[in-house]
Amino acid sequence: MQIEHNKSLKLFNTFGIDCKADLFAEIQTVPELKEALAEAKNKPLFILGGGSNMLLTKDVHAFVLYINLKGISVVSEDDDFITMQVMAGENWHEFVQYCIEHDYGGVENLSLIPGNVGTAPIQNIGAYGVELKDVFKSCTAVAIETQQERTFSKEECKFDYRNSIFKSEIKGKYIITSVTFTLSKWKHILHTSYGAIKDHLAAKHIDIPTIKDISEAVIAIRQSKLPDPKELGNSGSFFKNPVVDGETFKSFRLQYPDAPFYEVSATEFKIPAAWLIEQAGFKGQRFGDAGVHKNQALVLVNHGDATGNEIWELAIKIQKAVKEKFGIYIEPEVNVF
Ligand code: EPU
Repeated sequence: MQIEHNKSLKLFNTFGIDCKADLFAEIQTVPELKEALAEAKNKPLFILGGGSNMLLTKDVHAFVLYINLKGISVVSEDDDFITMQVMAGENWHEFVQYCIEHDYGGVENLSLIPGNVGTAPIQNIGAYGVELKDVFKSCTAVAIETQQERTFSKEECKFDYRNSIFKSEIKGKYIITSVTFTLSKWKHILHTSYGAIKDHLAAKHIDIPTIKDISEAVIAIRQSKLPDPKELGNSGSFFKNPVVDGETFKSFRLQYPDAPFYEVSATEFKIPAAWLIEQAGFKGQRFGDAGVHKNQALVLVNHGDATGNEIWELAIKIQKAVKEKFGIYIEPEVNVF
């Protein structure tokens, strides 16, 4: 393990923010991780995965561990299902592509989500009617404090909308080293009810889609709406869709009868943050190099040399404007440092 000083993190976060790390080490094996943790005792730590769900607003005065553990192995399989262990540093979309090539079903709707496999459970990534928890079996993690390895079952992870135990109760205490998934080998359960997927399949005259068709539909939809971080720095959805109570929802509906919404339960309603941001006039706006994407108002972008602070200032401006106009608070989905 090689330790670098004053390392630029520009290539390690999808916003492309040029902040520096005091100390930086790339971790390629679990023993190396344990060794680094033992060495880092009493130093502040910063765990870096795919860097796709964070906004850096200042230099990182910490020991950055870049988790680059690689490998996919089969744990068990029968005629119907396969269970696979995937190391944390594997790129999420490459793993999805691997599954499509082998005709393993379950993750096709999650095509093209940026980030790594090891960080996917932290916020229970989701898109087009599927969430990571739907295919998740367990994960292994190393405790930062004791360097002990532990397995977390699905129940123990307490998955929720863009949330898990790793983002709440035990935040900052464990580093996920691998994730185990159970996927179907045939008789795949397809999720095609999402409007844009339906439309895409219909336009291609596909009546009986394969998981590859669905993956291709999702890729086409995402590419038409969401910017590629390699071309335009971004972190996907910057905000979560707010969930409001029945009373708030009722008065909101009276004022905005055409607003889109999803019923979460009889007393909880989710309102798309993208709609709120667009109605507040921010879609496609640019303030210096910080901006709101022209095709999806939920995505903040770095047009070139925006600093993390400029993006964060824009986020706060949006939050305030939405609160003033609708009385609804929108919370960031990305982690801001
Ligand atoms: N909308 C607008 N303006 C926009 C974009 C969308 O008014 O600029 C409206 C749409 O018309 C639609 C509603 O907002 O009625 C919802 O839009 P969309 O279906 O595009 O999804 P979203 O709620 O904005 C969520 C996820 C995305 C995921 C999509 C598809 C969150 C925070 N975001 O976005 O996840 O891809 O659904 O399932 O839940 C991500 O997390 O990085 C991400 C991209």
